[in-house]
Amino acid sequence: MISPSRCINLLFASILLLTLSAQAQTAKLPNVTILATGGTIAGTGSTSTTTVGYTAATIGVQTLIRAVPELAKVANVTGEQVFQIASENMGNEHWLTLGKRVNVLLAQDNVDGIVITHGTDTLEETAYFLNLVVKSRKPVVLVGAMRPSTALSADGPINLYNAVILAGSPEAVGKGVLVAMGDQIHAARDVSKTNTSTPDAFKTTELGMLGYFQGNRAFFYHQTIRKHTLETEFDIGALTSLPQVDIAYGYANVGPVVVNALVAAGAKGVIHAGVGDGSLAAKVLPALTAARAKGVVIVRASRVGQGILARNGEANDDALDFVAADTLNPQKARILLMLALTKTTSTREIQRMFYTY
Ligand code: DGL
Repeated sequence: MISPSRCINLLFASILLLTLSAQAQTAKLPNVTILATGGTIAGTGSTSTTTVGYTAATIGVQTLIRAVPELAKVANVTGEQVFQIASENMGNEHWLTLGKRVNVLLAQDNVDGIVITHGTDTLEETAYFLNLVVKSRKPVVLVGAMRPSTALSADGPINLYNAVILAGSPEAVGKGVLVAMGDQIHAARDVSKTNTSTPDAFKTTELGMLGYFQGNRAFFYHQTIRKHTLETEFDIGALTSLPQVDIAYGYANVGPVVVNALVAAGAKGVIHAGVGDGSLAAKVLPALTAARAKGVVIVRASRVGQGILARNGEANDDALDFVAADTLNPQKARILLMLALTKTTSTREIQRMFYTY
């Protein structure tokens, strides 16, 4: 017969063992901070079948975390609500705030990785900006959703779960800023949103995604070869603003109005999103050369979306003193040119940067 005092001792011993086991388990898990900025992943619709016409950026980060209790099995998760916006409203000031917060957190020994929940409309842009300014090898993973949290088969929870796994994965260290969407791992530089509404919208069409999620693990099969994070020459620590750089779209019958207006509004750089291989219509070229003569840096990009924008291909960049965007799409070329202009106005140096990052 076991005495009452022995029963109590056994009970306490069991509780102690369970507590120590739980603490040991927690100690093994990576520490991942989720920085929430808004978007559809935090969105709500009026019914479970509302997958368009919902309201983005309505749910807070703690609610997002509580909605996926499985996160606690793969990481020690903390959350911060950095912004609560639809990502079409993301601006340079948001990027500077976010980039500085990421760098502060990653400098802490108790942070192993960061997940940023974000609207999908400009997710690729924020990812590429951070790819150029984060000063750590620790994983930074952007994640969003194509359906609001209230929808049937909402993709936010599984995307968030995968993103947290990735942010805590040793394999993700040193890979640059990553995007986790639809069970796939993408590099910030080359991924784009390729569909307005379907869950498989994020693709790295020709240059190739980096890997997959399967069975609660991240699997890498490729890695980017362009410089990123600690390897870049950009530092936003002392910056309070970014140079104004805008995009002029090319199309049949285009005229000089937009380029002239951008320059008049104070643009320090203009990305020309040309047709084909960045072709310049005869009616636009004089506006671009006039802008260049005023010191505005002109980058020739392409609206096409894939392929190398060849220097001296469809225009004599050497003679015009323009920069070729290489394989960056116009919205990412804008980001690189903004950061380049914080360092130099030399088109020779800026062209080197477009071949480096
Ligand atoms: N307003 C869009 C945004 O915040 C919603 C799209 C989304 O997040 O999937 O980017």
